[in-house]
Amino acid sequence: MKLPPYNSFPNISGDKVLLRQILTADIKDLVEISFYDSVQATTVQQATEMLSKINRDYLDGNSIHWGISDKLTDNIVGTCGYYRGLDKGEGELGCVLLPQYRGQGFMTFAMSLAIEFGLNIMGLNRIWALTSQQNQDAIKLLERLNFVRIADWDGSEIEYELRLGV
Ligand SMILES: CC(C)(COP(=O)(O)OP(=O)(O)OC[C@H]1O[C@@H](n2cnc3c(N)ncnc32)[C@H](O)[C@@H]1OP(=O)(O)O)[C@@H](O)C(=O)NCCC(=O)NCCS
Repeated sequence: MKLPPYNSFPNISGDKVLLRQILTADIKDLVEISFYDSVQATTVQQATEMLSKINRDYLDGNSIHWGISDKLTDNIVGTCGYYRGLDKGEGELGCVLLPQYRGQGFMTFAMSLAIEFGLNIMGLNRIWALTSQQNQDAIKLLERLNFVRIADWDGSEIEYELRLGV
């Protein structure tokens, strides 16, 4: 098992997207999808503070957060990463796309790279994700990636787990 932090931040290149470290210059484009502890940033300053906390979590070995860039245009289109569970050899996968980049396949490609990294490099023994019953786009994304629904929490949040070995 090889968990964060790494000697150099692991950028992962696929056919359509590159998962890479988020730079200060990216933050202005990411404000509307910057969250920490379920609070959404509304200013660049708040998003910058959130990114510092996320970077601290990475250095403490508790998470890894990638920016997703479109390889064709170099635009940053969203973020994804593992945010909880690493201390138990597991990873809660989370993701968000800027609204203008939804419906084009970016997240399916990005999550596939993150899953491959989680299994083959980090050595995670379980990958899961939480969403809500109403979030049909997230449900479609997870099912497309071979996640299966394993629990309903309080009738609102639902838990999906990656089916391994398929
Ligand atoms: C969840 C979320 C990332 C899904 O975004 P998305 O754009 O539907 O997902 P993808 O980028 O993988 O795109 C897939 C869609 O693009 C379509 N698409 C278009 N061109 C494509 C291509 N070249 N390759 C693959 N898919 C393509 C697919 O058919 C699919 O549409 P469909 O679901 O209507 O069939 C997005 O809705 C989001 O950011 N939501 C808010 C945050 C959130 O809910 N996160 C989930 C936490 S688990």
